[in-house]
Amino acid sequence: MAAEAPKPECGELLLSRCEKCHYLERVCSQVGEKSKRRWKATLKRMVQRRGAELSGDEQEILLECLTAPNPVIVKECSKLNSSQP
Ligand code: HEC
Repeated sequence: MAAEAPKPECGELLLSRCEKCHYLERVCSQVGEKSKRRWKATLKRMVQRRGAELSGDEQEILLECLTAPNPVIVKECSKLNSSQP
């Protein structure tokens, strides 16, 4: 490959990697609530214990956008809420 692969984007990671085993609701209910340290532990557990496929870089990207709620995440999560009665 000639060019460096573009950095995966956080919303993309969330949708492609986290929705595989549980509803995003599980993640969304804690966005902006949980500390960075606790998110880090959660992500680590998802990878080591539950089998989520995330590289170290990808964990970092997700960690940032979950702790300081990124517009993409907020949007995905609000879609989720608005689809409920
Ligand atoms: C391979 C399956 C799998 C994938 C992929 C996965 N999870 Fe999970 N997740 C689980 C299981 C099983 C539980 C319930 C048991 C537990 O809490 O460890 C869970 C629980 C959770 C919880 C609630 C418990 C807590 O500690 O707050 C959060 C938040 C969470 N996952 C976030 C994520 C995120 C973010 C991703 C994407 C990076 C992800 N998960 C990907 C299997 C998965």
